Amino acid sequence: MNRVFSAVPKLLAVIGDPISHSLSPVMHQAAIDAAGLNYLYIACHVTPRKLATFVQTVRSERSLAGFNVTLPHKEKIIRHLDGITDVARAIGAVNTVYWKQDKLWGTNTDSLGFQQALLALKQPYKGKAACVFGAGGASRAIVYALEEFGFSRIILVNRTVKKARALAHAFASYFPKSHVDVLPWEFSVLQNVFSEIDYFINTTSIGLSGDSFPRLPFKVAKPSAVACDIIYRPARTPFLQLAHRHGLRCQNGMPMFIGQGAMAFKLWTGKSPDVQIMEEALQADF
Ligand code: ATR
Repeated sequence: MNRVFSAVPKLLAVIGDPISHSLSPVMHQAAIDAAGLNYLYIACHVTPRKLATFVQTVRSERSLAGFNVTLPHKEKIIRHLDGITDVARAIGAVNTVYWKQDKLWGTNTDSLGFQQALLALKQPYKGKAACVFGAGGASRAIVYALEEFGFSRIILVNRTVKKARALAHAFASYFPKSHVDVLPWEFSVLQNVFSEIDYFINTTSIGLSGDSFPRLPFKVAKPSAVACDIIYRPARTPFLQLAHRHGLRCQNGMPMFIGQGAMAFKLWTGKSPDVQIMEEALQADF
């Protein structure tokens, strides 16, 4: 990259292990440049062993204006920060670190990112029913978003039922009025509820490395139902391929990725980024 600055730029970063695949630098730098801001967004390879030292250095040297956190640090970073937001506490993971009155704070913008993705669909969501596949960290962010948006029914489906039950139990204390049902991942069981679902959301990692998605009873789904995947590469994920074959409207993880990035950008710079520019930069990188 051949970049000339008129003054020393402020630094932003994404940290992870591995990190070379991250699309955050491309997306953020495009928005920074379009806004005429004097920031440089870089990728930092930080291993788990170096995480504590990394945060300590950022704190003492003020070397970064803020940073994103990706795998495998989203949960472990919490203990190294001065504070976290309620949403990060509920989700149990931090993806964005920022300065607040000389303290390093962590929050989670994945949930808001998913809400932006839902809004982009321009379909009703309040009072609707959602079926969420997966019960990991990503699932927690999605369930949080659905609860906040007033979904009336959330069904969690996970290979390991115990993990889904734990997630549902944890959310009961944050959203006492809501009820998250847990179902085992069995075709015949899912067949009984699929016709009642408005949004099907995949938060599992199936599809990230070319693996196929287990058969699902989309045949009985409502024609108006939507399928969302939080994976954006490949663009047509195995989950979305299944749903598309049965005529469902599909949305991959790109709008959520842009949404979470836009929220982080606003926290760091105080300005809303041009999300169209972000999307174009990502498309150009594919
Ligand atoms: P993340 O924090 O990104 O959500 P994670 O915590 O590792 O990642 O969770 C991955 C999710 O994908 C889990 O719900 C996992 O199911 P289990 O809890 O049963 O492990 C799910 N998952 C991954 N590979 C899967 C597969 N081949 N079939 C079904 N579920 C799978």
